[in-house]
Amino acid sequence: MKSYFILDCPNLKQIANNLYEFLIRNNSLNKVNFFWNPLTRDEIKQIYHGNTALIKWFDDLNVRIRDIAFTCWSDTVATAPHIDEPPVIAKINIPVLNTKDTYNVWWDNDGNEIDRVECITPIVLRSDIPHGVILGQTHKKPRLQFSFCFYDEPISYLGPTKEEEQQARKTFYERFKKYGSVTLEESLRGKTVWSDFN
Ligand SMILES: [Fe+2]
Repeated sequence: MKSYFILDCPNLKQIANNLYEFLIRNNSLNKVNFFWNPLTRDEIKQIYHGNTALIKWFDDLNVRIRDIAFTCWSDTVATAPHIDEPPVIAKINIPVLNTKDTYNVWWDNDGNEIDRVECITPIVLRSDIPHGVILGQTHKKPRLQFSFCFYDEPISYLGPTKEEEQQARKTFYERFKKYGSVTLEESLRGKTVWSDFN
């Protein structure tokens, strides 16, 4: 499976501006104590109802938001190489501020770099192998990105083997069968479960 896939996003400027305004409006940047900052359900709803360009783009990609976080690298908070909490495999990252000359990097289990991409475009990011962020010499702070995960993991962009895709679908089903309406068959066909915001 690939480490990342660069997504075409014609309205990136508008989407990123809107996400930045959300952070300012909610005074979020004054409350940052960690690199990873998960949004509350109410905050997720604000974005769902207030960022039309973003939701239209996700609709076009056929993904439904499950969780949103923003990441902040400042003089006081940073990140180190890590593996995301299972079972998430594929997230979508959107650059918002000062992401030029900063890089998503992936390593193998021996610590050898296997991939790197500058964080200037939205990507599908593989998060179940060691990954992190490296800053170049000309980076600026604070560096802000938004990170989204979905009811239907967009791992198909990462070119998984049939087995890897099947496994991800099964995990998805296990995780969300509590929502009631999705069957394993529906899940394997890629049907989404989306009850929170309707
Ligand atoms: Fe991560």
